[in-house]
Amino acid sequence: MTKPQLLIDTDPGVDDALAILMAHAHADILGLSVAAGNVGLGHTVRNARTLVDLVGGRFPVFAGCPTPLVRMPQEDAAFVHGQDGFGDVGFGEPGAQATGETAALALIRLTHEHPDLTLIALAPLTNLALAVRIDPTLPQRVRRLVVMGGAVTGHGNTNIVPAEFNIGFDPEAAHVVFEAFPFFELVDWEATLRHAFDEAEFDGWLAMGDKRAQFFGQVFQTAREFNRKKERSGIIAADALAMAVAIDPSIVTRAEERHVAVELDGRLTRGATVVDWSRRLGKPANARIVLEVDHARFGEMVRKALGVSS
Ligand code: BDR
Ligand code: CA
Repeated sequence: MTKPQLLIDTDPGVDDALAILMAHAHADILGLSVAAGNVGLGHTVRNARTLVDLVGGRFPVFAGCPTPLVRMPQEDAAFVHGQDGFGDVGFGEPGAQATGETAALALIRLTHEHPDLTLIALAPLTNLALAVRIDPTLPQRVRRLVVMGGAVTGHGNTNIVPAEFNIGFDPEAAHVVFEAFPFFELVDWEATLRHAFDEAEFDGWLAMGDKRAQFFGQVFQTAREFNRKKERSGIIAADALAMAVAIDPSIVTRAEERHVAVELDGRLTRGATVVDWSRRLGKPANARIVLEVDHARFGEMVRKALGVSS
């Protein structure tokens, strides 16, 4: 199988880190366009640079927009990922640098240069929304768009109950992207929970892996503690699940195609993803909603990304 070419929009972030390790192990990374989200842009860009150093990568990092398009969200996710987004381990200054090109313009340029690329969004959709507003023809040049975001039956992970973090952080950006792309693949928070890894098994992978496993074992302690306090079982890896789908769509074992829109107002629901499950609106489906993947193959992809041999 030829390696897919991936352009990754990301806000690293612990599970972004695992996803990027997967991309490095299984695909060609064209670049990391970096958004604010889990933590502020200064940290997310620095963390992206740390990942380039870790894997000895040659792919560029592009800093994006430091705020959502319209409204500032009430909170980021530092209480999950650590104040620096990487578990407050205290890594030194990375050697890799961000290029001077802003993320939205890099997305436009790279989609011209690589007409067969897959775009995967692991963060609030601010950069991509800006890019499609500047260049509305961008979606025509993207073979696949895979989005980690949403909670398709309203079981979100933010204080706005039905909203998932990436969509809830910048609902206007998600709205712009969902309207601009005729079709995209959606990997939501609820699918993530169904595909958590067994803790003991995952710890075994960390023990058997190489420096990437050691790195991940360090950065994800804060998120692990948070999930335990929330009584969420298993190792939850939202962005890694979306990355598995981006790398190899044949991993999907159950999906539904429906129209998905984003609630922009709503006293209790701003940032919710509203799925027309009963096809009441008569609108064409704009999303393939991933419901299940082959869990064993997902695990294999993660193991390789952590340097576990066999
Ligand atoms: C998503 O939000 C972020 O905290 C994670 O990195 C992931 O992209 C899960 O809701
Ligand atoms: Ca993320």
